[in-house]
Amino acid sequence: MTPRYARSSGRSTTDSARADPARIKVAVVGLGKMGLSHLAIARTHPDVELAAVCDSSSYVLGVLEKYTGVTGFSDYEKMLDAADPDAVIIATPSRTHASMVRTALSRGKHVFCEKPFVLDSREGEALVALARSRGVVTQVGYHNRFVGAFQEAKSLLDAGAIGTVTHALGEAYGPVVTRPKGSTWRSRKEEGGGCLYDYAAHPIDLVTWYLGEPVGVGGTVLNRIFSRETEDEVFSTLHLPGDSTAQISVNWSDASYRKMTTRVTLWGTAGRIYVDRQEIQVFLRDEGTQPPAGYGPGWNVRYTTDLTVPVWFYLRGEEYSAQIHHFVRAVKAGRPVDGFASALVTDRVIEMLVADAAKGPSTQAERIQVKPAARWARSRRPRLRRIASHLDRASARVPARRQS
Ligand SMILES: NC(=O)c1ccc[n+]([C@@H]2O[C@H](COP(=O)([O-])OP(=O)(O)OC[C@H]3O[C@@H](n4cnc5c(N)ncnc54)[C@H](O)[C@@H]3O)[C@@H](O)[C@H]2O)c1
Repeated sequence: MTPRYARSSGRSTTDSARADPARIKVAVVGLGKMGLSHLAIARTHPDVELAAVCDSSSYVLGVLEKYTGVTGFSDYEKMLDAADPDAVIIATPSRTHASMVRTALSRGKHVFCEKPFVLDSREGEALVALARSRGVVTQVGYHNRFVGAFQEAKSLLDAGAIGTVTHALGEAYGPVVTRPKGSTWRSRKEEGGGCLYDYAAHPIDLVTWYLGEPVGVGGTVLNRIFSRETEDEVFSTLHLPGDSTAQISVNWSDASYRKMTTRVTLWGTAGRIYVDRQEIQVFLRDEGTQPPAGYGPGWNVRYTTDLTVPVWFYLRGEEYSAQIHHFVRAVKAGRPVDGFASALVTDRVIEMLVADAAKGPSTQAERIQVKPAARWARSRRPRLRRIASHLDRASARVPARRQS
């Protein structure tokens, strides 16, 4: 499925100058935690020529220019005009994504943008339309989709290996904010900070990739623990197409984890899947049906190391290189890819969670006003309507309490 990668040693912009016209010219903007990773990966890709880099910090640019020889710009538009790349990798703080993507698309550039895609889904929809009109390749940095075990789960689900999925649990935990901290863009709501955009976006992306876009959400809790402005915990129920549900449980203030840990559990009528970065565990019921190739009834375990194709450059995990390779390959093939549209699903879910959390929980007063069965009978969800009619029938069978 994924091709073998050629190995390559690192090289500088000077030695990569236009020797191979088939190489695509890539620029990287935002040279922080993610941007430096992308820069290292792109710079060593055999089909990429690094055109330029951009960061608003002169210190970062100065160090990079001095030690690596890359061509640096502090102004994004000037960089696009002067370096004229074919594609741009955007790894600036989330609030800047929409305007930077629009600027690049307007110039007909292919765009790889870090997650979350944008902070306003209406803006995101306009950008999806713009990208389509330009016929370019777009992708968002949901790197878990390039982890062997998460990909295996997707293949098994698409093949119906565990039957109809009735429920899923998407989780992410890690130690980002474990005490009150000073302010950065990550701690500011209007900049896309907080556990919801930073952490919860990942399991939401996986669950919606696996099961589709939710039709609604409920019971959302956005709790603060140490942060002043943003949530540190996210819990919610997603109501998915086909009457299935998923719960999201995320906490970026969990000091019991050394680094971010993302996992998904899926219950189906014919089995269960548990999957994380390291492995996939699959339990298949013995239904007399043909299990997928290589799988049998009972427990099956596959390790990411056995499911992963080696990459030309390893940094933090193969998935980071594999996602850039996927982008580069599509650009080279001249095949438009609409990666923004599927990333926008996660942005829309996040907006639903925020709106749902603002409503707050059902109260004692509502419990008295509306009996659950009556509420469910009016529900658009067939399963709830079935439960309501079952409760009606059951209560009809109960003899009226004797009056004493
Ligand atoms: N995929 C993942 O797992 C993952 C992990 C971390 C961050 N991210 C995402 O990557 C993006 C960047 O996060 P980060 O942790 O690297 O942030 P960071 O704060 O470490 O780096 C951001 C960089 O962008 C630069 N910058 C800010 N505004 C700029 C502008 N207008 N023009 C040019 N440069 C500018 C800053 O100087 C800084 O060097 C965010 O959207 C974040 O959500 C994704």
